[in-house]
Amino acid sequence: MAYPKRNEISAVLKSSKPGDTVSVGGWIKSLRSSKNVAFMHLNDGSVFDSVQVVLEESLDNYDRVLSLLTGASVFVEGQVRESPAKGQRIEIVPSRVEIVGECAAASPVQKAGTSFEFLRTVAHMRPRTNTFGAVFRMRSALSFAVHSFFNQRGFVYVHSPILTTSDCEGAGEMFQVTSLDLNKLPRGQNGGIDYTKDFFGERCSLTVSGQLEAEILAMSLSKVYTFGPTFRAENSNTARHASEFWMIEPEFAFSDLEDDIVLAGDFVKYLIQYVFDHCGRDLRFFDERIEKGLKDKLKAVLEADFAVLDYTEAVKALKASGRTFEYPVEWGEGLQTEHERWITEEYTKRPSFVINYPRSIKPFYMYCNDDDRTVACFDFLVPRVGELIGGSQREHRQDKLMRRMQECDMDPAKYGWYMDLRRFGSVPHGGFGLGFERALMFVTGMANIRDVCLCPRVPGNAAF
Ligand code: 4AD
Ligand code: MG
Repeated sequence: MAYPKRNEISAVLKSSKPGDTVSVGGWIKSLRSSKNVAFMHLNDGSVFDSVQVVLEESLDNYDRVLSLLTGASVFVEGQVRESPAKGQRIEIVPSRVEIVGECAAASPVQKAGTSFEFLRTVAHMRPRTNTFGAVFRMRSALSFAVHSFFNQRGFVYVHSPILTTSDCEGAGEMFQVTSLDLNKLPRGQNGGIDYTKDFFGERCSLTVSGQLEAEILAMSLSKVYTFGPTFRAENSNTARHASEFWMIEPEFAFSDLEDDIVLAGDFVKYLIQYVFDHCGRDLRFFDERIEKGLKDKLKAVLEADFAVLDYTEAVKALKASGRTFEYPVEWGEGLQTEHERWITEEYTKRPSFVINYPRSIKPFYMYCNDDDRTVACFDFLVPRVGELIGGSQREHRQDKLMRRMQECDMDPAKYGWYMDLRRFGSVPHGGFGLGFERALMFVTGMANIRDVCLCPRVPGNAAF
């Protein structure tokens, strides 16, 4: 026997007509009574708005229903009628209200205006708030947009492995995975841990990027992309870093840096347009309540020609800015968030590709430019969020790649398979990685990455 049929509140609000009989299920957002009538706002997450249920005294269990707390769940059958109240087209007058699940106590998230900091401590309850409902609907829509963009362009979706023995970014910020007993570690001759006794026979970690494996498939299917979880044991407690985040990584053959930049720009604009086309109601909420003027800013991004500037030029401009930054600016050093934000917010005043960074501060796989000092890469910077994408043309020349591996103290034997991709039919290719949560922060105006993840993983916290 199936559960009684239910109309989703999104459909009821959109298309039910006065006189229709409907059944809705949901959680009580608010309940207030005046003389012999009470008003319940019910939300089922199918849409931002709640439907108003007008409870009349004639209802069988009127008093019981009135005693329910915010957050209790009910199943309502009733008739739709035109609503005299402002801001809502219709309301429901129930013939029956079934109490599905009561609340044991006042819900921790019922009060409006509760801080996001507090809500992180009750991450299992916060999706019941308007804000987080909207965040997770957006998150779903944006994921769909990712697939739709690449699918339309003929990119093949690849599931790159989560468990890996390679460190793509070379930063050594990997979470190790082991089945060894940590209290009884097997030791080798020199006293080090003997990983040949570990599950995979060698040291293994959670991936920081699916890129290297995506390159495997790009060297046969030409255009591929990954979209999956990545993990970084980077101890940076910022509003933009999570230890577990999702990344989209296209990789495509017969391309150079310029092609990569064009694809990245098109992708970002597509995502924004998708949100305008499919998430209007939630976007309006973010625009009105989370980041004033968000929609105008996103529209401006859609219309903008993105800036492209050399790292060397960016460094010059930063030095000439007259600003005192917390971190020094020097050719050969990485750009910090404060520098990145200055570039996009004050220098170019639009989303910007900073290209051709010094090779000494970038990973081994990037294509070495003719100047032999820089690599053909970009960081895509956007206002407020900073780095949204990192990408590059890949080093497809065997000798140059070998030199870089040596410079980076990598064991070429371990990356023999990666070198083989250069030994057998190598092709110029490139790709990039877009941080999905950062994209979500960008289109919602949410200021902290912890508030766009269902259960954020950050240093010191993996609750829920
Ligand atoms: O710049 P990253 O490290 O580049 C790579 O991993 C390349 N393998 C991508 C590629 O070329 N296929 O990371 C890419 C993006 C960043 O621009 C940022 O948006 C996001 O991933 N990112 C993070 N997002 C949240 N928390 C973190 N700790 C992140 N680290 C990177
Ligand atoms: Mg980067």
